[in-house]
Amino acid sequence: MKFFIDTANLSDIQEAYDLGVLDGVTTNPSLMAKEGIAGHDKVMAHYKAICNIVDDNVSAEVIATDFDGIIKEGKELAKIDDKIVVKVPMIKDGVKAIKYFTSEGIRTNCTLVFSSGQALLAAKAGASYVSPFIGRLDDVGSDGLQLIQDIVDIYDNYGYITEVLAASVRHTMHLIQCAEIGADVVTCPLNVITSLLNHPLTDKGLAQFLADHKKANG
Ligand code: E4P
Repeated sequence: MKFFIDTANLSDIQEAYDLGVLDGVTTNPSLMAKEGIAGHDKVMAHYKAICNIVDDNVSAEVIATDFDGIIKEGKELAKIDDKIVVKVPMIKDGVKAIKYFTSEGIRTNCTLVFSSGQALLAAKAGASYVSPFIGRLDDVGSDGLQLIQDIVDIYDNYGYITEVLAASVRHTMHLIQCAEIGADVVTCPLNVITSLLNHPLTDKGLAQFLADHKKANG
């Protein structure tokens, strides 16, 4: 399973990359705004800075919601770096744009996906990634993980190459259950990745090993 970090914060991206387990980055307009990145040139420069840290897979989201606007923006984003994946919302013009980008060899991430039907459309349009938002579904009393399972099953039935990118991941159990289901990618904040390190028996065991070593060696 690929690990993507869901942030536009450069130091979090660098920390996850330095851990040696990072496969990519997802951003969205809210995450960019959270870092205070505003204005065309600053946004473009920030995406380039992210690309300079990681090896591949930097999702950069379009703001336009009409076909021509999505194509114009997506092409400009794709020109920043070969690592860019154009993130397109699950709307009618977005699906048409994904089909167009696919024919042009531009990778896409279809975002804001909340149903199997939407995921089916994204795959048929040729999206490289589909992003079902599991945390936001859980927030409204739906089962986000069940949606991941359903999409994995549907894609397996037909051999779609679109990768299932579990998004809106809030905690380690989300991540682990996505891995059990067979999601291709999980994107989450840095703390979810680093929380995987923690186990009290690891801490206890290490303290014991170090104490025994000290006793024997002085
Ligand atoms: C991923 O591509 C999305 O931008 C992100 O996972 C949304 O997460 P949130 O529901 O925590 O905002």
